[in-house]
Amino acid sequence: MRAVDIIQKKRDNFELTSEEISFLLDEYLEGNVPDYQMSSFLMAVYFNGMKKKELKTFTEKMMHSGDLIKFEGVNKFLIDKHSTGGVGDKTTIALAPIFASFDIGTAKLSGRGLGHTGGTIDKFESIKGFTFPETRDELVNMVNKTGIGLMGYSDKIVPLDKKLYSLRDVTATVPSIPLIASSIMSKKLAVYADGIILDVKVGSGAFMKTLKDATDLANTMLDIGDSFDRKVVAVLTDMDQPLGRAVGNTLEVIEAIETLKGNGPEEFTYLVETLAAVGLQVKGDVKTLEEGREKVWDMIKSGKPLEMLKGFIKEAGGNPGIVNDYSLLPTAKNKLEVKSDKTGHVSKIEAEMIGKSAMVLGAGRATKEDIIDHAVGLVLNKKIGDEIKEGELLATIYYNDDKNLNSSIKLLKEAYEISEKEIEKKDVILDIK
Ligand code: URA
Repeated sequence: MRAVDIIQKKRDNFELTSEEISFLLDEYLEGNVPDYQMSSFLMAVYFNGMKKKELKTFTEKMMHSGDLIKFEGVNKFLIDKHSTGGVGDKTTIALAPIFASFDIGTAKLSGRGLGHTGGTIDKFESIKGFTFPETRDELVNMVNKTGIGLMGYSDKIVPLDKKLYSLRDVTATVPSIPLIASSIMSKKLAVYADGIILDVKVGSGAFMKTLKDATDLANTMLDIGDSFDRKVVAVLTDMDQPLGRAVGNTLEVIEAIETLKGNGPEEFTYLVETLAAVGLQVKGDVKTLEEGREKVWDMIKSGKPLEMLKGFIKEAGGNPGIVNDYSLLPTAKNKLEVKSDKTGHVSKIEAEMIGKSAMVLGAGRATKEDIIDHAVGLVLNKKIGDEIKEGELLATIYYNDDKNLNSSIKLLKEAYEISEKEIEKKDVILDIK
């Protein structure tokens, strides 16, 4: 078998056999197929896609390219809630303790932030002393003790995805539905959970800009889940504006804690409640989402999820006292209130620009090597559909260093569009599949 023949076959839109896909991926991982041939193959997939059977083999090869994590010794129903990534997405910080309160364990690998999007690992690391498990045994121990098993991706889990993703990043082949679906699902399948909930983001701040593309991606991931006999639910959610109001690590931790105290922003609270209700449905504890949401809200009001979060923070080496005293978290030295220079209604908030506005202050990384400033970021005072008057507060910027303050302000202002006519508020949940 030769790589060039496989590339040619894909280029001409013929279906590849499992042997051909296995050969190409094995040889690539071994270093026998060079990057230039793999790039060409990825571009052929970008244009011609993959059939169901091809995608199953492709995903299976990726999944088995490294270690698999199984949770022997954990006596809980396990859920992996995965978000395709967005701005202000602190969902896991609020959701995992809610699941733990219902005796649903979280079993998941999380990422660090890159570019305009943040990562759960960085957010939790705002808490001084907080460290994540590094081995399977530590992870199992954490789930057993706290109900929350979270750790960062390692080079040992799906190494082929890491290699392919770096190549896709520089060959303009990231936005391909089969490549994104297999990349995400191979990592979900490598870490065993009884249920997988995919939060597929749609809009200006997400990979998928339109509901149609997001639906295609969701369906492709559901098909992959199905072919591995795994229970997967996809929830399509809005990312046409940042999620909630806080963007930046510490600020997002605070917003997630406030949500567990029942004081979170309305749309973020609704998203968390819905995802938790989906989890209860997947586990078989409730019949309808409405019933689930009610149970979740009652649970939040009971205060148990907040206690679960405290237990998790303590076990991870942090001070659980932060949930009642935010001054124990990194605090920015300065804040600046940015006011509106127009009167009207907020019609647009480009999530990507807001993410960049926080990133240039140090909240995120432009390159993998950048060091994060956990204290800095933005809190949005106005969201889409809100009325605003000239001179009224648009958002507050929290910063330590004024080096990039002007570009942060510029990005923030450019992100907002204010129109004369009234604008309807957006639903955060767009579809559930
Ligand atoms: N997230 C992933 O893990 N992989 C992709 O290809 C895109 C988003």
